[in-house]
Amino acid sequence: MKILVIHGPNLNLLGRRETGVYGAETFDSLNRRIVSLCSELGMDVEIFQSNSEGGIVDAIQAKPYDLLVINPAAYTHTSIAIRDAIAAMARPVIEVHISNIYTREEFRKHSYISGVSTGQISGLGTDGYLLAVRAAQTLLSK
Ligand code: DQA
Repeated sequence: MKILVIHGPNLNLLGRRETGVYGAETFDSLNRRIVSLCSELGMDVEIFQSNSEGGIVDAIQAKPYDLLVINPAAYTHTSIAIRDAIAAMARPVIEVHISNIYTREEFRKHSYISGVSTGQISGLGTDGYLLAVRAAQTLLSK
């Protein structure tokens, strides 16, 4: 079983970017924890980051995966293109947000992605990705 993890724009700056909101863990450390948990659970994983909407749409369409874990970052609140790509692929999707998007600015409270996601994890910090991997294993074993 293969999971694709997609990180959207500016998430490559984790650990250096608004640490009061997104925490101190670096992007590399987070990705190492994802890879390590997937290996412990016996799942294949590919991790992809892009700052561009088209790059994310291309990855959703072209990369092989059974389940997608995606933090679309700012595109969460703007991208019908990413929503449509997810809908077209018809595979389980877990939407992750490090911060709680519902307790921040008004413009962050709407997600174009949640309507096509299997579920969403928001506000649990970078650990949210690890929880998504565990949920992925449960979903894929059904
Ligand atoms: C985010 C929340 C978004 O509103 C923001 O644009 C991000 C990160 C999060 O993980 O909390 O870049 O998706």
